[in-house]
Amino acid sequence: MHYEVIARKYRPQTFADVAGQEIASRTLANAIRKGKVAHAYLFTGPRGVGKTSMARILAKALCCESGPTTEPCGVCEHCRMIAGSHHPDVLEVDAARFGHVQDVKELCDNAQFSPSSARMRIYILDEVHMLSTAAWNALLKVLEEPPPHLRFIFATTEVDKVLPTVLSRVQRFDFRPIPLDGIVACLRAIAAKEGQEVADPVLFRLARAAGGGMRDAQTLLDQLLAVGGEQVSEDDLDLLLGTARGGDIAALAGLLIEGRPAPALEALDRACAGGAAPGVVLEQLVDHVRSVLLVQACGRDSQAVRRLGTCTPEVEAHAKACSPEKAIRLCQILIGCQQALRQGVDPRLQLEVACVRMSSLGQVQDLDGLLRRIERLETAPPPAARPR
Ligand SMILES: Nc1ncnc2c1ncn2[C@@H]1O[C@H](COP(=O)(O)OP(=O)(O)OP(=O)(O)O)[C@@H](O)[C@H]1O
Ligand SMILES: [Mg+2]
Ligand SMILES: [Zn+2]
Repeated sequence: MHYEVIARKYRPQTFADVAGQEIASRTLANAIRKGKVAHAYLFTGPRGVGKTSMARILAKALCCESGPTTEPCGVCEHCRMIAGSHHPDVLEVDAARFGHVQDVKELCDNAQFSPSSARMRIYILDEVHMLSTAAWNALLKVLEEPPPHLRFIFATTEVDKVLPTVLSRVQRFDFRPIPLDGIVACLRAIAAKEGQEVADPVLFRLARAAGGGMRDAQTLLDQLLAVGGEQVSEDDLDLLLGTARGGDIAALAGLLIEGRPAPALEALDRACAGGAAPGVVLEQLVDHVRSVLLVQACGRDSQAVRRLGTCTPEVEAHAKACSPEKAIRLCQILIGCQQALRQGVDPRLQLEVACVRMSSLGQVQDLDGLLRRIERLETAPPPAARPR
């Protein structure tokens, strides 16, 4: 049976489908509406955020039988050939595999010919930071005076390596890492279409693991749906990401807040027992305590907390149980521990030391309480002034 990976199956097909790149979508759609499409665009940004997808959508918008249109039909011959990347007039070239200047010269020579069937010729050149200066020089000549039927769309993950002479001849769009809720919404829709149920907290964690890249998020979802049954659980995700069970992390955090070193160390042991690396456990702890801090500072329903997407019932309980001062101390200790880990200090040892330090903060909390009482006493009116 043919299986198509999610990232390919659900490639966005219209401007509206592209998540998180509203400025590029809107500007390009406006240009099409006004008939002012530039001769050359440069799409830059991290991996898997929609550059190639957007390039194909723009090509479809320009070549669609019912076009130029901001809403390409998706079913005409041109649209279908472009989506399948085998349109004779829409050339997709990977510049990384395009070493010889001769190749570029040939491409530029062919560019002079009229399109064979579409309204125009569109060259989509990917990874253009790999082009040599000689190759660019050949291209720049065409860019300088392009034939009216020709459009270039360049894409790169490394814009710093693109020559200034090129940058000044193209219209540039910076594609951004996609916000968490945009990724979650997309994953939720895909899971539903695949007929599988994935709870929101799982989707949020998955999206966070992808760090703003939609392809990575979709690839993870693909793997997760393959691991899990009809209902995908958080345990499946832990297995996939190599993270400790969420319940174990919450239990550990609880014991740290309560100030109980011995059971906290046992909880740490349980968290690591499933094979999660100490650095990963530490990251999960940081996420937990950070959520506690944010819930305390801004409330459960605030934008900041929702953007992080890690507010669990345990986080809420801990936000109530722990003083803000203590939460800040916990955070500071955890950040210090992260720094130590980066310097290559034995990670498990560091984590244990940090856990003991955090769970011995009981006295500190009392000191904070004392300080507040003293402040209150100092600002209270003198007893004589009080009405009897
Ligand atoms: N903004 C987005 N909205 C919806 N899906 C996206 C988006 N960006 C990427 N995807 C998904 O990821 C896949 C890869 O996207 P695309 O090829 O457009 O990324 P790219 O930016 O060109 O990445 P690369 O730098 O690796 O070439 C798409 O097929 C699609 O499923
Ligand atoms: Mg690409
Ligand atoms: Zn069409």
